[in-house]
Amino acid sequence: MSDPILHCREVSKTYGAVRAVDSVSLTVHAGEVLGLVGPNGAGKTTLVDLIGGEQRPDTGTIHAVGRPLTGPPSRRARFNGMARTFQHPQVALDMTVRENMIVGLAARSMGSLGGMLRQLLRGMVSASDPGLNLEVDRVAAALGLEAIDRYCMELTLGELRLLEVGRALLMKPALMLLDEPFAGSDARGVSGIRSAIAEILKSGCGVILVDHNVDIVASLAHRIVLLNLGAKVFDGSPRDCLASPEMQAVYFGSGDGPAVGAT
Ligand SMILES: Nc1ncnc2c1ncn2[C@@H]1O[C@H](COP(=O)(O)OP(=O)(O)OP(=O)(O)O)[C@@H](O)[C@H]1O
Ligand SMILES: [Mg+2]
Repeated sequence: MSDPILHCREVSKTYGAVRAVDSVSLTVHAGEVLGLVGPNGAGKTTLVDLIGGEQRPDTGTIHAVGRPLTGPPSRRARFNGMARTFQHPQVALDMTVRENMIVGLAARSMGSLGGMLRQLLRGMVSASDPGLNLEVDRVAAALGLEAIDRYCMELTLGELRLLEVGRALLMKPALMLLDEPFAGSDARGVSGIRSAIAEILKSGCGVILVDHNVDIVASLAHRIVLLNLGAKVFDGSPRDCLASPEMQAVYFGSGDGPAVGAT
């Protein structure tokens, strides 16, 4: 098998007395969807933040696209070919969908997204090249994201998630990190994100998919990592994961069952 796109080795992160991520090792290969599941507080978002470069691990190493994840936070993900969505969407509500998508791409290539810079970029958007606008239209249509010249303050949570996925797709990443992309989505949103994942896998992109809906994760993932209290307690096929004693213990032992069925 080829070298992994992502390799985390014994990565840990502590907040005060909380061991949010506890010596987690994992890999993601090209064209692979790794599902990341676990109950509230299991450490899923913290691990995604460590991989995405928003947080630094206390110990352990992360290699993405063959390079160690080092350097200033804003540059780490960019230099390692990653794009992500956030559990709480990070979108400028006073800008349109199109502007958010283009500015996100421009900010990434320029390295920072300050308030002044955003205004500057906003001016550039209106004069931006037609090819880029066509690409934005194509990505939005593929996601089923309509009327993209609307201001984001008018969007539902599901539409904001589609926007974040679209913005990430435009970056043509080697690794995509999706933190609860289906939460708050209706059936159309779920279907748009499902087809976006299928499409991006064809380009050889790897995907980390976090969601509480274990049925959806199991239907999309090639492998699932189960986290509990920051530690990896299972790593294997979706079928084996769902049937594992670890899954039963983590969810049903605590009476905190995983979400199932449509989001
Ligand atoms: N910035 C922070 N400061 C202090 N504690 C934090 C911080 N971020 C996360 N934690 C703690 O780390 C642990 C893991 O949190 P994390 O958000 O990574 O879990 P999660 O699996 O994403 O949960 P959820 O399913 O609710 O999104 C929790 O106990 C949380 O309270
Ligand atoms: Mg989370």
